[in-house]
Amino acid sequence: MFDKITSDEILLGRKALLDGWGGRPNIIITRAKGAKLWDSEGKEYIDCTSQAFSLNIGANHPRVIEAVKKQLEKATHIAYQLDSVPLLLFTRKLAQIAPADLNRVNFCLEGSLASESAMKLAMKNRPECRYFIVFEHGYHGRNLPTMAASWTDPESLFSYFKENVIQVPEAYCCRCKFNLSYPSCNLECARFLEETIDKEKDAGVIAVMMEPVQGNGGQISFPPEFHREVRKICDRQGVLLIWDEIQTGFGRVGKMFAAELYRVVPDILVFGKAVAGGFPLAGIIVRDNLKGFDAGENAFTFAHFPLSLVAALAAIDVLEEGELLERCNRLNQHIIAHLRDLQEKYEIIGDVRGPGLAIGIELVKDRDSKEPAVKEANEVVRLGLERGVMFGISKYGGLGNVIKIKPPLVISDEEVERVLSVFEECIAKVQRYG
Ligand SMILES: Cc1ncc(COP(=O)(O)O)c(C=O)c1O
Repeated sequence: MFDKITSDEILLGRKALLDGWGGRPNIIITRAKGAKLWDSEGKEYIDCTSQAFSLNIGANHPRVIEAVKKQLEKATHIAYQLDSVPLLLFTRKLAQIAPADLNRVNFCLEGSLASESAMKLAMKNRPECRYFIVFEHGYHGRNLPTMAASWTDPESLFSYFKENVIQVPEAYCCRCKFNLSYPSCNLECARFLEETIDKEKDAGVIAVMMEPVQGNGGQISFPPEFHREVRKICDRQGVLLIWDEIQTGFGRVGKMFAAELYRVVPDILVFGKAVAGGFPLAGIIVRDNLKGFDAGENAFTFAHFPLSLVAALAAIDVLEEGELLERCNRLNQHIIAHLRDLQEKYEIIGDVRGPGLAIGIELVKDRDSKEPAVKEANEVVRLGLERGVMFGISKYGGLGNVIKIKPPLVISDEEVERVLSVFEECIAKVQRYG
């Protein structure tokens, strides 16, 4: 049932689809398992995108599927205002595994809405203040407030909320806005952040909202010291700190949360994507000292979707066993070392970075000018797909120059070797075109 399609149906389906991304490959995915995908022609792909970085424990993990099948027999939808066993079990679980006193959870189904929930809760706790401070290459979603708080085009029609957002440069060390080098820079970008908060003292800053590792805006990781400095600044200034862990949570960086990796406790932690092993779920985890929502302020029809909640319980069990987190860290060392060797060989590789399986490779036309090699990065993705490896790329609509290697943590050693050899083949080809 619903697993066959004619060429006419493909044409009509594609014609009717109002795309919000910008450019999609000419394939139809029909099956997924672990780190692999298959298309309607039977071609196999190794998935270095974990399907929008959501399948940390791999596609169709048997424990997730079993939990969901059992729940299917009981109830598929229970409204927000009623308790269910999966809701109470998973809420308690998240409060247990989240760092420190991040103990209260509010759910929804999409990351953008979760980021917006964090903004709303922060506003409630700083009603006298006006601004959110975000980073230039940050990304928090695609609804109106989060588009305004993201790297997306400042002239965009949808930057509606922009007048309440201030963007500052982040610790993007290979392209430092202050033309300095880490560590001799003494974290000038952190100092700039504090000066910006000081400057806006009258109107007031509600929160600094940031991703601990920036995904969509360029797969940018920061020195751990920068993270700790931002926390100190927020404490000094009485400004809330929101960490958008939608991409970094649930094992992606080799820990359950990036907050553990960088030893920083945010006031609000935003989660989504991988939390439910491939089922939709997102939300915020909030520190005990913050005021919560009042009646009706942040409740959504499907937010407590029982199938997602049982999937999440199973997915967390798999991660808590620990093997995958260790594997993630081990693979990071292997892949980064290999890519650094390639960097010696290929001029086009400007930078290699990232913790866990959140790896970014920045392509440049020239190492001195650092001109972004956007066309070449898109070509690497296209050539990879031809060869059965699906690489990620930063920024939607083909606008980025950073290739992302972010496969499920269950990727096998052989699959990793295949990914690295296809990557080199593609890089060698695009360098030759240049
Ligand atoms: C860091 C971050 N925040 C928010 C979002 C938005 O999540 P969603 O697409 O589920 O709305 C994303 C999605 O890519 C993300 O990476």
